[in-house]
Amino acid sequence: MHFTKFTVLALGTLTMAHPGVHEPNSYSSMAKRDFLKGARRSLDLCAEHLEKRGINDRARARRAAVFDAHKKHILQTRDTNKTVATNHKSSLDVTASTSESELFSQNPVCILAPEGEVGPFWVKGELIRKDISDGQAGVPLIMDGQFIDINTCEPIEELYWDVWNCNSTGVYSGVQSSMNGNGNDASNLDKSFLRGIQKTDSDGVAQFKTVFPGHYSGRATHVHVIGHTNAHVLPNNTLTGGHISHIGQVFFDQDLISKVEATYPYNTSTVAITKNIDDHVVEDETEDSASDPFFEYALLGDSIEDGVFGWVTLGVNVSASHDSDASYAAYLTSKGGVST
Ligand SMILES: *[C@@H]1O[C@H](CO)[C@@H](O)[C@H](O)[C@H]1NC(C)=O
Ligand SMILES: *[C@@H]1O[C@H](CO)[C@@H](O)[C@H](O)[C@H]1NC(C)=O
Ligand SMILES: *[C@@H]1O[C@H](CO)[C@@H](O)[C@H](O)[C@H]1NC(C)=O
Ligand SMILES: *[C@@H]1O[C@H](CO)[C@@H](O)[C@H](O)[C@H]1NC(C)=O
Ligand SMILES: *[C@@H]1O[C@H](CO)[C@@H](O)[C@H](O)[C@H]1NC(C)=O
Repeated sequence: MHFTKFTVLALGTLTMAHPGVHEPNSYSSMAKRDFLKGARRSLDLCAEHLEKRGINDRARARRAAVFDAHKKHILQTRDTNKTVATNHKSSLDVTASTSESELFSQNPVCILAPEGEVGPFWVKGELIRKDISDGQAGVPLIMDGQFIDINTCEPIEELYWDVWNCNSTGVYSGVQSSMNGNGNDASNLDKSFLRGIQKTDSDGVAQFKTVFPGHYSGRATHVHVIGHTNAHVLPNNTLTGGHISHIGQVFFDQDLISKVEATYPYNTSTVAITKNIDDHVVEDETEDSASDPFFEYALLGDSIEDGVFGWVTLGVNVSASHDSDASYAAYLTSKGGVST
């Protein structure tokens, strides 16, 4: 079996919520890449292993439960007339006609270590917490990540998943920089919105509640990921020690981004959108491996504003250390953020 992005096309009833379906352009661009034969083989082996161990079954059940817990009560709130008039096709996709078993029937895509750059806006020392929205306006995003050891194909337990993304108008918390919104806004250093850390469970899984990222100049919409292994938790709920085994960025389908960007307050941004196909990190992360650094997703309700559930499986080389690649713009202390 091949767990490429083409596999998920089997989800015939979904249109708006096609998990894993990317822009046609990025297909052809990726097809041009030199996929390493060895990487392909290890992906397939991993997929088989995960299936046999029942890890995929548990992933499907868990994702169905998370989706169920967060989805809106569509049948009660549905405005059929409005839906029919504006977007009949997509409303059927994710609402009454789609069962969880349909949505999650496919196997999780195993991504082979898409190591990517850390970027200029990592803040070290963030808090371990699941809901990182901090009241930011925008489309709710539930992220479910599963981390797999690419050497053993086993889930990585007790990996600390560190995430950060910009807010709906393209600004990161915790960083004061002319490249990040208003460079004179020193108060931003003390903010932590859309940043946090979660520990993976015995299935290598952790989740966050955040807000779908907006965009800023020169970059496609993305979420940053760092994976810390062998780290310890301090009494103030931050991490110390261990290694950074993984650095990457995860992306979203262009048509999903377009839908989000059409809503308020994303649509107040006057910054030009950089598409996935034009993004250098998308290119890097899909270059030399069978890597698919895109969220699979489903909409949580009739309207995009109800939120998005995104899930991703990330392969990590736990023997690797990327500590020296992980430069940070600031670090969080008990007295707030400090620029480096
Ligand atoms: C929906 O449209 C029908 C036909 O135009 C109309 O009779 C009905 O009142 C509308 N329902 C609502 C809730 O607006
Ligand atoms: C995004 O964050 C910046 C910096 O804190 C803030 O000025 C801006 O209002 C935020 N955007 C929204 C939509 O809240
Ligand atoms: C942004 O979206 C809101 C809600 O749909 C709409 O009322 C507003 O006119 C839009 N603004 C722009 C600049 O398109
Ligand atoms: C994993 O990382 C180790 C240490 O850097 C390296 O020797 C090994 O080649 C890596 N394995 C893969 C599959 O990339
Ligand atoms: C947490 O504790 C460590 C060790 O005392 C300290 O260096 C760090 O600033 C603290 N972080 C926060 C957010 O309080």
